[in-house]
Amino acid sequence: MSSRVENGALALEPRGFGWTRRRDAWWAAPLGVFVVLGSFIVYATWAAFQNAHYTYGPYLSPFYSPELFGDSPHAWFGPRPAAWPAWLPFSPALLILPFPGLFRVTCYYYRGAYYKAFAMTPPSCAVGGLPFLYRGEKALLLFQNLHRYTLYGAFVLLVFLWWEGLNAFFRDGRFGIGVGTVVMVINAALLSAYAFGCHSCRHLIGGRHDCLTCTKPRYRLWTGSTWLNERHMAFAWISLVWVAFTDFYIYLVSSGAIRDPNTW
Ligand code: FES
Repeated sequence: MSSRVENGALALEPRGFGWTRRRDAWWAAPLGVFVVLGSFIVYATWAAFQNAHYTYGPYLSPFYSPELFGDSPHAWFGPRPAAWPAWLPFSPALLILPFPGLFRVTCYYYRGAYYKAFAMTPPSCAVGGLPFLYRGEKALLLFQNLHRYTLYGAFVLLVFLWWEGLNAFFRDGRFGIGVGTVVMVINAALLSAYAFGCHSCRHLIGGRHDCLTCTKPRYRLWTGSTWLNERHMAFAWISLVWVAFTDFYIYLVSSGAIRDPNTW
């Protein structure tokens, strides 16, 4: 039900799914989130399970980075462990993706976006929602609090992404550059911008201090994190699309569908 004032009295009126007095295109944002995030989840699942075409020369898909166990020369600890159960599907990506996945799923920005787009209770402010009992943050609060810890995992993954990005300048020991190199370095930069603009990261740098400006390096770091934080939504989406694009580019060159222009 929704309320409106009639002759000075508060009157109740029925309010079903999608009901609103808003005149703007309120549906555009949740629809966009549904399509982009939904497509990403489908693509990432396919890419993670295919366990093929994730590397080409010095390039390694970010979905598989770091490759702990696997068949490519990028694997840190060699091929799949012999003790891996035969009935359990294996892919190096399945060992890695839960960490960035948890980081994204518990992100303060994404929560609001996917609650509206997927749960639709309500799909936007002042719009009628699906008739489910909304418990959102309350029901998931403990789980969502994991976010501050997943941030540390994201930092570790960033180290590997930068490492792989810089390694992509060297093929068989020779320095050079290819389109894949540029794609991988941009990917590492965008994911860094997303992680360093995280609310938890900003708090990690500037929280719990009575005088923030007293320590100049910390203050500068906090100012940088704040700048990124103000653009967190933009970096959340750009980095999401770019990480999928990076994987797809490496898939295309690895499978022979396209040629990677490079200087080698
Ligand atoms: Fe979005 Fe932490 S709030 S990554």
